[in-house]
Amino acid sequence: MDYKIYIAERISLDGVSKEEIAQTICVPPDTTMGDYALPCFKFAKIMRKSPALIAETIAAAFEKDEVIKSVMPVNGYVNFKVARGGLAQATLRRIKEEGEKYGASELGKGKTICIDYSSVNIAKPFHIGHLSTTALGGALYRIFKFLGYHTVGINHLGDYGTQFGKLISAYKHWGNDEEIEKGGIHAINALYVRFNKEATEEMEQEAREYFRLIESGDKEANELFEWFKRITLSYVEKIYDRLHIKFDSYAGERFYTDKMQPVVDELQAKGLLQESQGAKIVDLEPYGMAPCLILRSDGASLYATRDLAAAIYRKNTYDFDKCLYVVAYQQNLHFKQVFKVLELMGKEWAKDLVHVAYGMVSLEDGAMSTRQGNVVLLEDVLSRCVEKAAKVLEEKNPDLENKAEVAEKVGVGAVLFGALYNNKIKDITFSYEKALNFDGETSVYVQYTCARAYSLLAKGGKGELPENYEPNEQEFDLIKSLAEFPETVRAAAEKYEPSLISRFCVDTAQKFNKFYFDCKILQAESEEARAFRLCLTEATLTILKNAFTLLGIGIPEKM
Ligand code: ARG
Repeated sequence: MDYKIYIAERISLDGVSKEEIAQTICVPPDTTMGDYALPCFKFAKIMRKSPALIAETIAAAFEKDEVIKSVMPVNGYVNFKVARGGLAQATLRRIKEEGEKYGASELGKGKTICIDYSSVNIAKPFHIGHLSTTALGGALYRIFKFLGYHTVGINHLGDYGTQFGKLISAYKHWGNDEEIEKGGIHAINALYVRFNKEATEEMEQEAREYFRLIESGDKEANELFEWFKRITLSYVEKIYDRLHIKFDSYAGERFYTDKMQPVVDELQAKGLLQESQGAKIVDLEPYGMAPCLILRSDGASLYATRDLAAAIYRKNTYDFDKCLYVVAYQQNLHFKQVFKVLELMGKEWAKDLVHVAYGMVSLEDGAMSTRQGNVVLLEDVLSRCVEKAAKVLEEKNPDLENKAEVAEKVGVGAVLFGALYNNKIKDITFSYEKALNFDGETSVYVQYTCARAYSLLAKGGKGELPENYEPNEQEFDLIKSLAEFPETVRAAAEKYEPSLISRFCVDTAQKFNKFYFDCKILQAESEEARAFRLCLTEATLTILKNAFTLLGIGIPEKM
């Protein structure tokens, strides 16, 4: 049970929703005055009364019960003391009963949500720029699923464009099958890079012709293209496996080749298409935006054209309630244009398209990111972080079993957590040292806390929850945190912000450690206290595991 909601439901304020009240209720840093507090300052404006008066009115009207024991107005705050035993019982029982389902709900039952994420480019390196979309999208996918939504994960592959003509031309001139089979994506990429450096005008010409051949269904050109695509995907899928990411559809840009003409026709029929220097555009000037380019003067379609076709296809195929695009903020304008054009076409569902924008990730380690012309491969970042994790683990615990397996969970987890810990729109700088700090706000800190809990449970066993136990300060702080998990998951979904869950994990782990250091668990003062503390340990572990599963990060039992 979430006490914030319980309290909010018993308060009525003119012009303020229960939801807003619940969100305003906080846990005071010093809990001697109360377990929860409602600051009334922000209501003063709406209600035209002083905060102190509002607090007094709320307190006077509040009906106490066996859950809420005392209600006191103090300087514009209402302080609530709750029956700790009651909350502890209710929360721990529920966590035990629901286990890995604790925090899940049926909120999204009957609703479908499409999530376009990761969306890598064929024959291009999977670089650090795709980390956030992959981590965020994967987390959102699992979060919505956890909340009962039917989720469709879509990898809108970048597999369309003249670069594939260039690639074929490069292959024809310099390619070697054996090298490509062996070098995989790196060999293909090298061909592409070489083309961009060395191609003659003749080769450029040839590349355009190859691209045309792919488009017109030429057998050989398509076979080559499919080969390059297969190699890229098998490479990318290995990384997805490490990150625990899955897709329901790999329908990329090319998939829409034959679905663009109907869109162009519809735009024409609706009088939205205009000529501009030979190109076809939709004028968006009235909305303060640059025009949306639909067809170039040579008749070629554009990125936006394919996104228009893709949105319509997704609506027809999945009948989504929401369709998310987890894409960097650099594409803000692109999505604004696409959404606007769909709206102008009269698609009422255009309002259900959401660009979930995020900031840039760079590496603190400058040497790697500035290697001339080269990009930082995600694969390299993962391997490097796992390597460093192995070293740190070796120092901490040289006798650890399954070292490699644990290092993989810690290292990969640190990279994912790095992308998931801050408000998503912020630019972030990733540092291996910081990400692997056992005492920081890190995944490894949370993982280590879990290992501590595992070890306690292995030694102490799992006890029965004692009936009439009155939790102390540290125990109760932790329980309050646990009780907030379901609400945290809902808020993360509503705001498309998995960082709420990552932060929840660090906060909960900190509270657990405070409890661990302040209260004797295995040598508790009474049988009851011991049993209760073991139950609390088990519940904390359940929740941290649930939360990390949503983030796509594994938890080793020993560290
Ligand atoms: N492939 C694109 C890129 O790497 C991202 C595609 C995002 N999805 C979309 N429907 N446009 O930038």
